[in-house]
Amino acid sequence: MSTQTTTLATTPDVVLQIDNLESYYGPIMAIRGISLKVHEGQIVTLLGANGAGKTTLLKTISGVMDPEKGTVSMEGMAIQSMEPDAIVRRGIVHVPEGREIFPLMTVGENIAMGAYTRKDRSAAVADEEIVYFYFPILKERRNQRGGTLSGGQQQMLAIARGLMSRPKLMLLDEPSLGLSPLLTQEIFEIIVRINKEQKVTMMIVEQNAKVALDAADYGYVMELGRIVMNDTAEVLAASKDIQEFYLGVSQDVNQRRQRRWKQHKTWR
Ligand SMILES: Nc1ncnc2c1ncn2[C@@H]1O[C@H](COP(=O)(O)OP(=O)(O)OP(=O)(O)O)[C@@H](O)[C@H]1O
Ligand SMILES: [Mg+2]
Repeated sequence: MSTQTTTLATTPDVVLQIDNLESYYGPIMAIRGISLKVHEGQIVTLLGANGAGKTTLLKTISGVMDPEKGTVSMEGMAIQSMEPDAIVRRGIVHVPEGREIFPLMTVGENIAMGAYTRKDRSAAVADEEIVYFYFPILKERRNQRGGTLSGGQQQMLAIARGLMSRPKLMLLDEPSLGLSPLLTQEIFEIIVRINKEQKVTMMIVEQNAKVALDAADYGYVMELGRIVMNDTAEVLAASKDIQEFYLGVSQDVNQRRQRRWKQHKTWR
């Protein structure tokens, strides 16, 4: 119908835009000129071997690290020199690699801590119920210390705590690290639901390329601090390079090449 044509023609807004970014650890150049865009409502995945610079890129976006060059814009505003808490207030939350929950605080206290940048206390309390809706196990365990949760539950807690800042964009660093395939699947199902139902745009660094590409709309592949490939998740999943290198599918690949890759690439 004619009323629908106009809505179909609109393109989603750019939430995050990165241009020519360079980040260093002392003399080591970890991000070597990265440009990318994340559109509103998308799930974008970031793939790449160990040491490619994925975590460094997320740290530079969330303000944990300052870039040497380049810009990071959130909804058109340059944020690359802002402090991490100011970036959280602008709507970007970073759920770091290795979870980093507060082990001695209870689950409930950990979740409440996620709202520390917010002034609307009563709304934050209401949001706890939304968080418990997605992670009912955390409600059951709300009085238990964070450090006594299982690995999967701690990952859920880290995501739950991140949600409490009401992010527009969530940066997730290896949410499936150390989890069983079943639990990985479960966490990704919840991430997709949060994306769709709470309209949280997601940027996910993931070692499990299959799960990540199944969930994602778009993907970037990093190698040695640069983007070497980017396309829709569908195209990436069908690409021969991705299938050989990331999905473990060998299609008449010569054995030597595959062995060499396995030496080079050591997913944890
Ligand atoms: N604190 C640090 N000091 C010095 N060099 C670092 C530091 N953290 C990371 N690096 C280096 O920066 C590069 C990128 O590291 P980064 O942690 O971003 O990679 P990654 O893609 O997240 O890898 P992984 O898949 O292993 O998590 C690597 O060469 C790494 O050795
Ligand atoms: Mg990393």
